[in-house]
Amino acid sequence: MEADLVIRRARLLTLAPLKDERPRVGASAGDVGAIDDGWVASRDGVIAATGRGEMWERLELTGSATVVDAAGAVVMPGFVDAHTHLCYAGHRWDEFVTRKSGADYLAVLERGGGIHATVRATREASDDALAALLEARLATAAALGTTTIEVKSGYGLEPAEELRQLRVIARVRKTAPIDIAPTYLALHAIPTQHAADRKTFLHEATQAVATVASEGLAEAVDAFVEQGVFDTQEVRPLAKAARDAGLALTLHADQLNDVGATEFAARMKARSADHVANASAEGLRALARAAIPAVLLPGSAFFVGYAPPDARRFLAADVPVAIATDHNPGTSPLVGLPAAIALAVTLCGLSPHQAIVAATINAAHALGRGERTGALVKGRRADIVILRTDDERELAYSLGAPLVRAVFAAGKRLASGSGDGSLHPIRV
Ligand code: NIG
Ligand code: FE
Repeated sequence: MEADLVIRRARLLTLAPLKDERPRVGASAGDVGAIDDGWVASRDGVIAATGRGEMWERLELTGSATVVDAAGAVVMPGFVDAHTHLCYAGHRWDEFVTRKSGADYLAVLERGGGIHATVRATREASDDALAALLEARLATAAALGTTTIEVKSGYGLEPAEELRQLRVIARVRKTAPIDIAPTYLALHAIPTQHAADRKTFLHEATQAVATVASEGLAEAVDAFVEQGVFDTQEVRPLAKAARDAGLALTLHADQLNDVGATEFAARMKARSADHVANASAEGLRALARAAIPAVLLPGSAFFVGYAPPDARRFLAADVPVAIATDHNPGTSPLVGLPAAIALAVTLCGLSPHQAIVAATINAAHALGRGERTGALVKGRRADIVILRTDDERELAYSLGAPLVRAVFAAGKRLASGSGDGSLHPIRV
């Protein structure tokens, strides 16, 4: 077997599937598949083998192979950020300050602020400006260890503007250093000019799914199902349109209020149900029955100040748990999975190992990539992170510390990293 990259002497977290390729629940929800003195080898961006001890010496190395001595540090799959709103312009610092002094998130939205403020700023940005902003945010995410990231539209509202944003995402995706999973967030808010004509807007946003699918602009369709925003009846035709067009469904479900969106997500066979901070017990049972991952987003609970989702309820109900940053300028300016892991442990009650599972293999499942990435297993993309610690639980502990030393996406070392570049690879 030939390898062009070997990382050895690692505390290797393989996250390898135990029995089947399903998202992890129960006892395996906290099993990171650790191998001490482990190694991982890849060839042409694909993992070739993993093992323990000096066995790697039996591999044949290509002429230009890189061999990295991890010296006992943690080596693990690249993080998967399963929920972001990375494509936007402008900021909402003023709104943040207003809300921190008492203003309510949904009230700000109703007054034409919140999401609408970002919509105005994003519409004004040219394609090039928007692409540059997105590229910069992707570089930051990658430096923090993210090798797969979902990117939603949703700050266009009007279908034509949503399509423009999805085309910008598609353009950036072609040259992005990490894997992007694009999502058409069709129903995020009612555009102010359609306030009196909800039905037409719902119809047009639903019609646009066909164009999104035929141009290959998104893998999934999303909607904000929330009190005073959109209800399940309004979202149902969109969910059907997504299914007919061969696109997955994902939902902002029961973030601030229980509106039955989690059960609805399960009924519509969604790819994931996200936020779910206020999901009912029936909602949890429905997700568990359908093995649909709940994507918990502690960043928005932290920044908005609502009660975070209680991960223990989900684990007890055997719902697969994933976590993500929900990066967006309104509710969650959080960047990178290490910080999300720390918040998921402190606010949601995951153990550090459960949070690592939730940020890698279960998050890959939440993006329909459960067999492609999220684990260091032969045949998967060589998305690998080297940490600056020999104990992965530090991810949940050293909040804000630059713990990511090096990042490989599809076997390629990314230029940046919060590391200093001093990996001292041995050229063989
Ligand atoms: O996931 N809640 C809906 N959408 C985003 C926030 C969007 C915004 O405020 O700009 C979220 O929290
Ligand atoms: Fe979101």
